[in-house]
Amino acid sequence: MFDNNQIFGAPLAGITDKPFRRIVRMFAPSAPLYTEMISCHSLVEMHKNCPRNFDRYDDEGNIGTQIFGANADLMADAARILQDAGAAWIDINMGCPVPKVATRSGAGANLMRDHKLAEKIMRAVVGAVQIPVSIKTRLGWDDAHRDWADLIHIAADCGVRFVALHGRTRAQLYTGVSELPQISDDIKIPVIANGDIKTSDDVRRVTDLGYSGAMIGRAMLGRPWVLGVLSGESTVPRHVGAIVLQHFEYMLEYYGGRAATQMFRKHAAWYSSGMPNSAEFRIRVNQINDIDEMRMEISKFWGCASVI
Ligand SMILES: Cc1cc2nc3c(=O)[nH]c(=O)nc-3n(C[C@H](O)[C@H](O)[C@H](O)COP(=O)(O)O)c2cc1C
Repeated sequence: MFDNNQIFGAPLAGITDKPFRRIVRMFAPSAPLYTEMISCHSLVEMHKNCPRNFDRYDDEGNIGTQIFGANADLMADAARILQDAGAAWIDINMGCPVPKVATRSGAGANLMRDHKLAEKIMRAVVGAVQIPVSIKTRLGWDDAHRDWADLIHIAADCGVRFVALHGRTRAQLYTGVSELPQISDDIKIPVIANGDIKTSDDVRRVTDLGYSGAMIGRAMLGRPWVLGVLSGESTVPRHVGAIVLQHFEYMLEYYGGRAATQMFRKHAAWYSSGMPNSAEFRIRVNQINDIDEMRMEISKFWGCASVI
């Protein structure tokens, strides 16, 4: 599940669903990938929107399912459900800054300022499953509280196997640049670097800082091959249109026609970004509800005929 110097695919809510992970897997067969974050409440109570996020993972290889919540017992129950569903490891979200998660629910980034609760949750989850448990966190709540190292020491003590660290505080949200600190020898578990990593130079830079791997988030948007390229498992594909069509077919299979078509608009836009006439393409695609029309627009834009 964890080797040194791996390239991880970050959890991205609304993006790293099963169809997206299938596309990333084509290029990076062994990369550790995260699911979108899943609420422990929805999972345990099987709320009606949860099956969208709830898959069986055993055919997916190295998949970490990420859960969020502030109730240690429910987090432990959620972890057991995901272990039974075939997850390779469980990740606890300790960095999500959105108010619904961090301030109103006391979960996500809130756990960076409530180390006692964070510890209780980590102990409960580690004790509930046989598979490894990781956490994903940020530098701290704000500039005055950059206490990421304290949280990592607690995590190590609880039996957490590794940590992904995003080089921003909760207060920064996604603004400014990610500033990843040096990892010192007294940190006893592997730390994966995250934030603004896009190139092999970026990966080298964080390796030199003592990180045990790199995690890629937004650089995957419209470039799902980037993990494979950075890990040396693949090269940039020559026929991107065929990949876009394949991704759309996976979405149709998973979500059904109209929902998939509307959800795919953003992916189509990301794939086209930086290409000539992409602005016009984006405007057209944003109005499409019909499956065949979406297929046709993609085929026309990339000059390709069929699904790979
Ligand atoms: C649209 C979006 C959704 C995200 N969803 C999650 C999530 O579900 N869980 C999580 O821990 N982080 C989430 N993040 C944070 C990313 O995993 C990552 O930490 C952040 O984007 C910085 O990495 P990057 O610069 O490589 O994108 C999300 C970020 C974005 C932009």
